[in-house]
Amino acid sequence: APIGPPDLSECGPAHLPASAAPINCCPPPGTKIIDFQLPCSSTPLRVRRAAHLVDDEYVAKYTKAYELMRALLDDDPRSFKQQANIHCAYCDGAYDQSVTGFPKMDIYVHGSWLFLPFHRYYLYFHEKILGSLIGDPTFALPFWNWDTPAGMKLPSIFAKKGSSLYDEFRDAKHQPPYLLDLNYHLNVDPNLPAQQQYTNNLTTMYRQVVGAKTATLFLGSPYRAGEAENPGAGTIEHVPHGPVHNWVGDRTQPNLEDMGDFYSAARDPIFYAHHSNCDRMWTIWKENLRYKYENVKIPWLHTKPVAPTMRKAKRKISWKKAATATKFPILLDKAIQVLVKRPNTK
Ligand code: C2O
Repeated sequence: APIGPPDLSECGPAHLPASAAPINCCPPPGTKIIDFQLPCSSTPLRVRRAAHLVDDEYVAKYTKAYELMRALLDDDPRSFKQQANIHCAYCDGAYDQSVTGFPKMDIYVHGSWLFLPFHRYYLYFHEKILGSLIGDPTFALPFWNWDTPAGMKLPSIFAKKGSSLYDEFRDAKHQPPYLLDLNYHLNVDPNLPAQQQYTNNLTTMYRQVVGAKTATLFLGSPYRAGEAENPGAGTIEHVPHGPVHNWVGDRTQPNLEDMGDFYSAARDPIFYAHHSNCDRMWTIWKENLRYKYENVKIPWLHTKPVAPTMRKAKRKISWKKAATATKFPILLDKAIQVLVKRPNTK
């Protein structure tokens, strides 16, 4: 059986690193759970944009949304604190598998095929909350476009002190325009010339996406009810997802907080933009397995076609009259002439 949902009333202490300040990452008790409803077809499409290319208007909205989220009371499940704690609860074993009959086994969303779908849902709701706080149903998270040279640094919108997108626990050395190493090994900065670093990063991307020829390689190993966690991460989760976390985290903190540890990673707003790009890689990988189609206009996709209003019949003609009044007999005549003149092809 698949890993079941957690029993939300049974949230226990998370397994935090020893040096972490103790926190309770369980959601506020008594939160009313409402069933998910599929968005209706008139919901506008959300377009996620590259974080290094967004304009001022977007940045204003994006920072406003996080300001409002940060201002919510801590016991509001939509608050930034609770949003960040979700990652801690699902990634540090605050829930067990009692729903499927394995109360001794914890639920973990990393190191298996749960990684991509879990984070996709997580971002989906996080993004919806941000949009609703600013009253914009089209609001979408940006993606940290680390797979293209221009995006291979910490996007500057996150680096402005005082902005709601800023987080103080980041590596001081890796501020923009310092180049990102997608294969980053802890505390080892390669200091390569830009072109070399770009090529290395693009090679890494090719290997991890195009090179993942099977679903198991890309998505990660199966993880089912009653099974031990971490059966094996997929290529993207492993690299560059993991190294980018560590690269952003503050090396002077005991656990590379914030981005470098599960319990604290989602306290940094860049977390959601980083995962937005991981999510994008899933889409790219899937499309790359199939046929490609020329990118033509799809006139029916976003707006329902409206039937042209029928023109009123100008004249009323009886069937009998119509038979004699139309060109039909003339056309028939011509057709017969053609048939008669045509040489027999057999
Ligand atoms: Cu749940 Cu980037 O990790």
